[in-house]
Amino acid sequence: MCGIVAYVGSRQAQPILIEGLKRLEYRGYDSAGMAVLNGDVRVVRAVGRVSVLEERLSGAGGLAGTLGIAHTRWATHGGVSEANAHPHMDDRHGIALIHNGIIENYSALRTWLEEKGHAFKSETDTEVLTMLIGELYDPDNGVDLERAVQAALREVTGAYALAAICKNEPGVLVAARKGSPLMVGVGASEYIVASDPSAIVAHTTQAITLEDYQVCRLTPESFRTSTIDNVPVTPRIHELELELAQIELGDFPHYMLKEIFEQPASLRQTMRGRLDQREGRVVLGGVGQYARELVKARRFILTAQGTALHAAMIGEYMIEELAKAPTEVEYASEFRYRNPIIEDGTVVVAVSQSGETADTLAALHEAKDRGALALGVVNVVGSSIARETDAGVYLRVGPEIGVASTKAFTGQVAVLALLSLFLGRRRFMSHEQCSHFIAELERIPDSIQRVLQESDHIKEVVSRYCDRENWLFLGRGYNYPVALEGALKLKEISYIHAEGMPAAEMKHGPIALINDGMPCVFIANRGSQYDKVMSNIQEVRSRGGHVIAVATEGDKEILKHAEDVFYVPDVPEALSPLVTVVPLQLLAYHAAVIRGHDVDKPRNLAKSVTVE
Ligand code: M6R
Repeated sequence: MCGIVAYVGSRQAQPILIEGLKRLEYRGYDSAGMAVLNGDVRVVRAVGRVSVLEERLSGAGGLAGTLGIAHTRWATHGGVSEANAHPHMDDRHGIALIHNGIIENYSALRTWLEEKGHAFKSETDTEVLTMLIGELYDPDNGVDLERAVQAALREVTGAYALAAICKNEPGVLVAARKGSPLMVGVGASEYIVASDPSAIVAHTTQAITLEDYQVCRLTPESFRTSTIDNVPVTPRIHELELELAQIELGDFPHYMLKEIFEQPASLRQTMRGRLDQREGRVVLGGVGQYARELVKARRFILTAQGTALHAAMIGEYMIEELAKAPTEVEYASEFRYRNPIIEDGTVVVAVSQSGETADTLAALHEAKDRGALALGVVNVVGSSIARETDAGVYLRVGPEIGVASTKAFTGQVAVLALLSLFLGRRRFMSHEQCSHFIAELERIPDSIQRVLQESDHIKEVVSRYCDRENWLFLGRGYNYPVALEGALKLKEISYIHAEGMPAAEMKHGPIALINDGMPCVFIANRGSQYDKVMSNIQEVRSRGGHVIAVATEGDKEILKHAEDVFYVPDVPEALSPLVTVVPLQLLAYHAAVIRGHDVDKPRNLAKSVTVE
């Protein structure tokens, strides 16, 4: 995915665009670029971070002008190079374009445009779209930039959020979206177009969220919104819910650490107003109107990718245990392409922080086409998945900027716990059972707060082992997905090879990997499988593995079996992932920092993956 930001107004565009790019950089950071119109369109691009672009710009004397577009890229079509960085220019009319998304029919369009004599300089689908707009641009016959963009978008398949300017149309910014997010911040005689509100909120809290197939023509004094077929649309201006403080680092060195430490507060937000302990029930306004269908559902399929999938796996265990409803979990990417069976009474739940993950979105479309009731468990309000599901429950954990997902994971697990109770209470749970569980849920933020106090201890332990290149993460039951999540966190930000698996699975092959001093992290909190986990720990120890255990406070026995122990408070087994995951998040964080990596922007990654 990429980040786009554009400005039209009376202020100088460059500083606003640079600040916007820095806010959006988490969306992609392999190259960046900017174009500003001031008589002519001037473009500066650079491989690397936004800071590199900033240096380039100052080296070039800056780009003066009050209309501009800028982009930070995560490469899809074409490698990481200056030629492939945005903005792209057409070869005839001085049209510059930035784009987030994928133009699926770019190859056929490129061939057609080459036959018409256009010469391409990059390997990107975006340059094809730029040339197509240029080919269709014909102001003498009424096809100005807005009309040319509309006409081009009628020819493309795929996804786009884009912004364009043209040398011949000073003061005109054209933006459009389909499938990729885009908003327009409405200021006093100025507009800021951006992929998300973080690039807007410093300037205005009024915004328009463009809908699919909508095109917006903006000048400092006016805006006009239409469909790609040029049918006028009246947009709704709404208040941004985001506050600047939510996206500032404050005293934290990295967003990931800030977000780990925010978890007690973010989980309180997730649960706020949704728990009624006295009545022994959970209130979920977002799914209330489908309560009957949900209670009668014959099967739930939870679908997601990455960390969200790990949360969904915990959700599967919870829904089956608490609501006694048959539940499956499947990678969205697999679900989408394997001809899945959706019977009457199947509910598909898409779990996603961003709400924009292409695989999860595609699975959702597949499920809906096959007649499933579709629910979303999503963080970003108004995101594609949130909009396309029939109903859903927001995480409410606030913006997650670190590429490694942390507070969204605990938010997802908490929402799935709420959903399980919502269903369970209406199916088999008694008032007492539900009310007891609610009380336990309410204690979780304080329990996490206690685990956070262990951060320095975890850092000290990690400093002794973070030169080891192979780690295992092992857990059983509810903590098997936590083992997967611990391994994912470690590999994605520290670049250490780590495998997560059910503790019992180790002896079916992976045990061959264990050698002297190999760190093996066991989630060994007290629960129904504690003794079994202890046996697995012995199997590792007797082969020279180094055991680091996450254990329940007060468990002295574990000290005989593990070299290092991270204690977590005692909580019900079904809720234990909410606390056992926290030491693993901190472990990964400290390992990455000690190894000198850019924790918030790990190599090759982007915050959300909007390509299949
Ligand atoms: O936005 P989503 O929750 O749909 O994202 C899914 C995965 O791409 C995401 O969880 C990814 O695995 C994170 N980098 C994990 O930290």
